[in-house]
Amino acid sequence: MENIALKHQEKEEKIKIEMVDFYNEATEDYEFWSKDLNMHFGYYKPFTNSVFKRNSMLNEMNNQVLKRLNISTKKTNLIDLGCGVGGTIRYALKKHKNLSAFGVTLSSFQVEKGNALLEGKPATILNENYNKTSFQDNTFNAALAIESLCHSGHKKESLKEAYRILKPGGRFVIADAFLKKEEQELCYGAQYSHRRLCDHWSLTNLGSINNVKKHLEQTGFKNIKIEDISYRVAPSVLHVPFAIVTFILKKLINFKPLKRESLHNLKGSFYALLSGLHLKSFGYYIISCTK
Ligand SMILES: C[S@@+](CC[C@H](N)C(=O)[O-])C[C@H]1O[C@@H](n2cnc3c(N)ncnc32)[C@H](O)[C@@H]1O
Repeated sequence: MENIALKHQEKEEKIKIEMVDFYNEATEDYEFWSKDLNMHFGYYKPFTNSVFKRNSMLNEMNNQVLKRLNISTKKTNLIDLGCGVGGTIRYALKKHKNLSAFGVTLSSFQVEKGNALLEGKPATILNENYNKTSFQDNTFNAALAIESLCHSGHKKESLKEAYRILKPGGRFVIADAFLKKEEQELCYGAQYSHRRLCDHWSLTNLGSINNVKKHLEQTGFKNIKIEDISYRVAPSVLHVPFAIVTFILKKLINFKPLKRESLHNLKGSFYALLSGLHLKSFGYYIISCTK
């Protein structure tokens, strides 16, 4: 039993090292995906944005997450758990003048680039693990995590840490892809895409939505609301093949080599698209709750 736990821990550690290398080397590729450096999928809202304008859909995802944080007009501090280069933080600061923010990421490249982009703004990005941050208990009014907790398998430890650092009454919003059933219940095709997706994007696994809900409840979160937004996200997922082809063509035209990490990232994007086609197995959700 101890041996299995040790092996699991070693595997998680290996994935973490690969993930940091992946983001240190491939973060720049995201400039191609989003001019505002949003490292996530988008949210399509009819009559508000267009399925052809990727960046506006990506920013709408920021907007949807922020809306659910119920940010008041009083001084508010926000933490972005797995913040990339701070795309969501920059969007939030523009929208809410009463806001200050912290972001955490394990990639030193993202810390440097993100802080440079935030210069002069009331926000800082730290090189810290969202499963075990250095913040004191009850620090933040609001916490968010967009497509980041998947790297740790949406595990209870990540939810507990968010709970610990939130003030009582503080809001927590997660936007991410989840499994609709347990991994062992997936059909062969879904299991294959899930494993390949995890290998290429350095994810331990996607959590199953029912388990995550149970873990949020057990952690102490209240007013848990789970929204399946798969159809809102689908238009931006469909941008993936076009983005990949254009990215490769641009590299070829400029005689630039494709880095190993970039190739890995591109294959990961392809498996995200493939996973998305298994509608009964994968879903994209926004989860909101209160401490
Ligand atoms: C797909 S990116 C999303 C970035 C950002 N949320 C966004 O939407 O632009 C995933 C992020 O999670 C971060 N991450 C993954 N595991 C982490 C951990 N254990 N602690 C802190 N950050 C982590 C990565 O460094 C990366 O910044």
